[in-house]
Order: sequence, then C-alpha cells, then structure tokens
Amino acid sequence: MGERDDQKTVLVCVTGCIAAYKSCEIVRLLQKQGIRVKVLMTEHATQFVGPTTFRALTHEKVAIDLFDDPTDPIHHISLAQEPDLVLVAPATANVIAKMAHGIADDLMSTTLLATEKPVLVAPAMNAGMWRAEATRENVETLRRRGVTIVGPGSGYLACGDVDTGRLADPEDIVAATLAALEPDTTLANMSVLITAGPTFEPIDPVRFIGNRSSGKMGAALAETALKLGARSVTLVLGPSSVEVPVGVQVQRVETAADMLEATEREGATADIIVCAAAVADYRPRSVADCKIKKAAGGLDAIELVETTDILGTISNKKGERTVIGFAAETNDLLDHAQAKLSSKGCDAIVANDVTRDDSGFGTDTNKAWWVTANGTEELPTLSKAELAREIWRRAAQIHGCSQD
Ligand code: CTP
Repeated sequence: MGERDDQKTVLVCVTGCIAAYKSCEIVRLLQKQGIRVKVLMTEHATQFVGPTTFRALTHEKVAIDLFDDPTDPIHHISLAQEPDLVLVAPATANVIAKMAHGIADDLMSTTLLATEKPVLVAPAMNAGMWRAEATRENVETLRRRGVTIVGPGSGYLACGDVDTGRLADPEDIVAATLAALEPDTTLANMSVLITAGPTFEPIDPVRFIGNRSSGKMGAALAETALKLGARSVTLVLGPSSVEVPVGVQVQRVETAADMLEATEREGATADIIVCAAAVADYRPRSVADCKIKKAAGGLDAIELVETTDILGTISNKKGERTVIGFAAETNDLLDHAQAKLSSKGCDAIVANDVTRDDSGFGTDTNKAWWVTANGTEELPTLSKAELAREIWRRAAQIHGCSQD
C-alpha cells in the first residue's frame, strides 16, 4: 500500500497493563481512519501482548529497547520527531509519573520527554492508584502542559472491583486522537465559567430545600470546553456527585448565595458564562440552629424568601461577557424561554422540556431549543456532550460577533 503525502502517523505507546490487549483494537481503528501507526512498547508491556502481534498489525518494526536499532543510534529522537501525534494507551500510573517528572530511563520515557508533538494519554489502572494524590497531581501536571487525558472510564477492573480506572473505550480514544490531529479551537484563548448542579437551602442542621439536578449537563459543558481549547474552565458546582473532569477548576458551593458569590468572583474575567445550575428558587427566611421538632409544630409552616437570580444578576452587569442560561420547563416551553431571555437579559437560553424521557434531570440526553432575540432553533435529541458542543459553538459565535 503506497503512502499518501497527507497521511498522518501516530506513535502508539503501550505500557505494561492488562488493558494492553485493547491497544491492538486501537491500532486497527486508527488504521481504518487511514492513519499510519507505529508501536512503541515498554519491556513490561511485552509480558501482556507479544510484539509480533503489533508487528503483524502495523507492518512496522516494534520499538522496545533504547539500543535495539543498530542503524539508528538515537532511536528515541527519530521516534519522537517522526509521528504527528503520540498516544499512550494504556498508560500506567508509572508512565504518567515518569512523564510528569521528566524521568527518561527507557526508550518510551526518553521518547515521551523528547517529543514536541501533541500527546494523548489514556490511563488504565486500579481505582486506588487512579485516586492516589500522587497520580491526580501528575495527571494535573500533564494536563497543564497541554497533554490530552482520555478517560479513564468506570466499570469492571482487572482486580475485580467495579470502579474508575478502566481504559476508555477504544472508539473514544480514537475519536480523541482524530480530534487532536485536527484540533477544534472553538474556545481557544477563552476563559469560561459554568454553574451546575442543584443548590441546597438549609432549614435546620439536618433538613434542606433542594432539587433533583444531577450536574451532568454542567460537567459535560466543562469537559467539552476543555476539548474545544478553552484556556481556563471553572465549574461552580452545587451538591452533586457528578465526576468533575480533570483540568476543570471546581468551586464547590451549597446554597444559591454561595453560588452567586463564587460566580461573581470567579466569573469576573470570564469570556463566556453558562448558567446550567438548577438553583433553588426559595430559601427559608431563617435557619434554625438546632433540629426543628415536629412535636412542637415547628415544621407546619416554613417562611420562605426568594433566592437571588444568579443568571439575572450576572446578565445585568455582563459587560463584554457572553451569558447563556437554561430554561427547564414542563409546559409552553418556547413562550417561557422567550420570557426568560428578556427578563434575565442574557444572550441566549437553552430551553428544555423536563417532562420528556430524553431530556432533563438525570438523563444522558437532552432535547433542546436555542432561543435568542433573533429567533428559535430546534436541536435534535443529543447526548449531553454533543449538546455541550452545540452550545459552545453558538456561544462562541455570539461572543465573537460582540467583540467585533
Ligand atoms: N437561575 C439562576 N438563579 C436562580 C434561578 C435560576 O441563575 N435563583 C438560572 C438557571 O441556572 C437557569 C435559568 O436561571 O439558567 C432559568 O432557571 P429555571 O429554573 O428554568 O427558571 P427560574 O428563573 O427559576 O424561573 P421559574 O422557576 O419560574 O421557571
């Protein structure tokens, strides 16, 4: 098969991990996209998959040892320079630590230190190792230096646990590789802030007023913003167990008042703010110091006062910033969304009907309408990640026009 001039080359680095067998599938999927693949393995990786397998798949010599190519005395430099992108999949905690600390003691680590090409890392390890502070800090360091981290996912692990640490799906790794070969720069140089999750408004030390928001849409917006090249991504997150993507600066808050304070403080220099939080509309006028006793009738009536409208407050003094809100409705969706757009003064509203099975709290998809002063656009039912991409594209466009 002759090589095309524009053919891209990816160097796949395989480390010693049970998931190493999945690298074979990754190699095949990349090849199906017309990409030339070269494979570099650690010594340990060869205990899990034989180099012959990769040699047969790629029709290329598999690199393992610093001194295994007598024709090329500086093998790590040619390996570092030749590809368009380097993909480490699976990446053990060990190789991540070496990359973070600049350790170069074998062919893979020297190549990774020498390369100036985009690097993608797909971690796979035991959940405890993934959560270890050392790993978190190392991953954070890599992310800060521009390395793209794909996964890990959650599910069945080799150790028998069902937890986080599993290699991301080969399809997702390949999709991220393709995206990195042609990066989407929709949010390049922009700083964005997202409010997400519910707020809890305390009644007494044990009770609160809250709602069913999962925070998933906000987390998807944050993760997608990183992928679209945002310079900084801040998530102001109410009480929610949603997983926060590595690289996102998270500000945990409890009440609407905390969320307003954090949004005003952290969002002062943002380019785009998306208010996706399901903020409690009311809070008790006063919070009891001790648990209120039923017997005393203390819960028969609770006096409520409205919380501050965060979206409205920010939009009121938005200056150069672009501000996007959501509308969660059960009826007359578009009328309510139009009314919110003008009453809150934001640039656009993402309207969704929370009574639908494919939309709203806790679902993985959303059916939405994009509502601006120029009209309404119906979007198809999308995953939250896809909807996030559509929102950022449109928000960036509004932002770009307002800066002209
Ligand atoms: N919002 C906010 N602060 C509040 C209430 C809402 O920032 N105190 C924001 C939400 O994050 C969302 C938008 O306002 O972006 C609309 O929220 P929604 O709950 O749909 O509407 P409300 O403004 O609360 O009005 P209503 O409950 O009457 O529909």
